[in-house]
Amino acid sequence: MKSVLVLYYSHGGHTARIARRIWETVIAEGNQADLMSVVEADREGIDWNKYDLVIAGAPVIYGKFHKSFRAFVNKFKSVLDAKANSFFSVSVVARTPAKCTPEGNVYTRKFLETNPWKPKDAHCFAGKVDYPNWNWYETAAIQMIMKMTKGPTDATAIVDYTDWEDVKAYARHCLTLNA
Ligand SMILES: Cc1cc2nc3c(=O)[nH]c(=O)nc-3n(C[C@H](O)[C@H](O)[C@H](O)COP(=O)(O)O)c2cc1C
Repeated sequence: MKSVLVLYYSHGGHTARIARRIWETVIAEGNQADLMSVVEADREGIDWNKYDLVIAGAPVIYGKFHKSFRAFVNKFKSVLDAKANSFFSVSVVARTPAKCTPEGNVYTRKFLETNPWKPKDAHCFAGKVDYPNWNWYETAAIQMIMKMTKGPTDATAIVDYTDWEDVKAYARHCLTLNA
C-alpha cells in the first residue's frame, strides 16, 4: 500500500475534477491518499513524511502554469525530489494527439525544460472548453486559440476533451513509480 498526495491548482474547477478522479482511483486500488489544492497546502502546511508518492497537476492559463503552483513545487523541490513524483498538465491544445504528450505539448515541454523542480514523470491531459463559465475576455482569448487550432468558437460551447479512462490509467501508472 502506498501513501499518496494528489496536489493541484485549478482556475475554473476542471483540473480539480481530474485530480479528484486520480485520488479516487488511487484509493480504489487499495492505497491511502490525500487530495489538496496548492492554495490549501500552502496555507495549512503538509506533513510530507506521510507520503511516498506525490502527483501534482495544473492547467495552462494564458500559456503558463499558475505562479502559485510553480512557487509551491519549487519551494518544496528537495522534498519532492526525494519521493516518487509525477506532474500532469491540462490544456485545450492537448485535445489533438500530437499535443497531448510532454514533448509535443509546448507548455509542458517548456515547463520541464525551465522549471527548477524537475518532475520524474509527466503526462498531458486535454482540458475543457467552458465558454458560459468564463468571463468575456477569457472567452475572447480562448476563442482566438480555438480559431487558430480549428476548435469550437461558439460562445455557448461546453466541450470536455478529457479522456477520463486515461485519467484512471495515469493514476494506476503513477502507483508504479519509484523514488
Ligand atoms: C483564462 C484562460 C486561459 C487559458 N489559456 C490557455 C492556453 O494558453 N492554452 C491552452 O491550451 N488552454 C488554455 N486554457 C484552457 C484551460 O487550460 C482548460 O480550460 C482547462 O481545462 C482549465 O482547467 P481549470 O478549470 O482547472 O482551470 C485557458 C483557459 C482559461 C479559462
